[in-house]
Amino acid sequence: MVEKIIILDFGSQYTQLIARRVRELNVYCEIHPYNNIPAFDDSVKGLILSGSPCSVREEDAPDVDFGLFEGKFPVLGVCFGAQLIAHKAGNEVKASSTREYGRALLAGIKADEKLLAGIEEGSQVWMSHGDTIQGLSDNFDVISGTDSIGVAAFRKKGEEVYGLQFHPEVTHSVDGKQIIENFLVGICGCAQDWTSEHFIDTTVAELKEQLGDDKVILGLSGGVDSSVAAVLIHKAIGQNLHCIFVDNGLLRKNEFEEVLDSYKGMGLNVTGVAASQLFYDALKDEKDPERKRKAIGKVFVDVFDEESKKVDGAKWLGQGTIYPDIIESVSVKGPSATIKSHHNVGGLPDYMKLQVVEPLKTLFKDGVRQIGKALGIDQNIIGRHPFPGPGLAIRILGDVTPEKVAILQEVDHIFIQGLKDNGLYDEVWQAGVMLLPVQSVGVMGDERTYENVVALRAVSSVDGMTADWSRLPYDFLADISNKIINNVKGVNRVVFDISSKPPATIEWE
Ligand code: XMP
Repeated sequence: MVEKIIILDFGSQYTQLIARRVRELNVYCEIHPYNNIPAFDDSVKGLILSGSPCSVREEDAPDVDFGLFEGKFPVLGVCFGAQLIAHKAGNEVKASSTREYGRALLAGIKADEKLLAGIEEGSQVWMSHGDTIQGLSDNFDVISGTDSIGVAAFRKKGEEVYGLQFHPEVTHSVDGKQIIENFLVGICGCAQDWTSEHFIDTTVAELKEQLGDDKVILGLSGGVDSSVAAVLIHKAIGQNLHCIFVDNGLLRKNEFEEVLDSYKGMGLNVTGVAASQLFYDALKDEKDPERKRKAIGKVFVDVFDEESKKVDGAKWLGQGTIYPDIIESVSVKGPSATIKSHHNVGGLPDYMKLQVVEPLKTLFKDGVRQIGKALGIDQNIIGRHPFPGPGLAIRILGDVTPEKVAILQEVDHIFIQGLKDNGLYDEVWQAGVMLLPVQSVGVMGDERTYENVVALRAVSSVDGMTADWSRLPYDFLADISNKIINNVKGVNRVVFDISSKPPATIEWE
């Protein structure tokens, strides 16, 4: 049985980050909403209570029955979680008069406490709370304060119940990961054996059991998630996995051929479907971004359906769903739940009656990449930037034509290849180019030109939910701009997008 840590989510924007840190320490964990707690079996080694946008003082503040877990295994409360532990034991938590956002330095660390083993005085931690624990009753020990507050870390005397008012999961808490490791290993006794190899072995065994001799259909996109899902399922059931890779005519330059070749090289049973014209027909004269998305989604489903019918007796649909796709929908309150609704192109029609198999649904993106690496998948696929399902259609503002796609493919290729050649590709979370519905005047040779404007977009981000524009070197941008204007007929002006998300989005449509 895989040992695990349960994280109870009270709606903090950082809950997923706690889970990622735990996973990075090779311990499996699951996030569950505080109001839908799973049955705890012997595999549970400890519990973490997350932060929250709520205050424990609010009347309808989230609450849990501590009787379900206290005394059964160790508990660590983070921020709101810590305040909840203190509050339920009758201690006063109230709005703070000092500023408790941002950086603070630990002071008065009790070095013999396992939670803080190896942490030095003055270690920087990150605070983000409006309430503070005023003081603690005798059955608690304060195990550290900070330069500004009395209670930064505490322990319930003689019990494995701990609280941290700061956020150990954010990188600004310099020794935060060590503190989490102290909890996982020193206190919960986790073995830290949840490695990529372990994940692959157990997942493949489970898939074999689940799928038996059944046939599975899976839509490949060229992206990391669907590729890793395919290779895992392929390891379990071999040629009974039938992959479909659709050329919608909206992919990057040469992508269809190159990616199809590398899939075949991996031994996958894959059918490439050249369907560009169907997509162009459906997009004809369509200017509205959402209607473009819908049109693409519909044609995709039709094409996929047509191809699937050729796989006799298929019972399952394989999908590259990852953990954030699932947990986003159960967050309690607050900002983490809102933005992403439109992002997974086209569910499949119900009449297909396929059961869904999602081998990556417990992983974060970085975990998927690690598994992909351990599976020996080409770095070219694993390290790929995210790319929207509707592809270049939502980067061509206004109506889409094959001619515009051809121009954008050339421009995009110069930009992306430039990033790779200059060692910048992996520093950027996602990059691409927008073809604007704007002509501008230029001069080439002695000729006046009146041609297209393109906007380069490159962002840094962790998950696409928020993003900042990448500070690419001026000389690099100058070189790319020259190359584009000199080589791509139809473009005479290049601009660089310097908007962050929010308030802008990554894509322009
Ligand atoms: P935005 O533009 O909303 O994008 O900041 C966030 C992330 O989602 C991708 N994106 C999409 N992905 N279908 C997709 O599969 C879509 O319709 C879609 N729209 C945006 C975007 O590329 C970025 O990674």
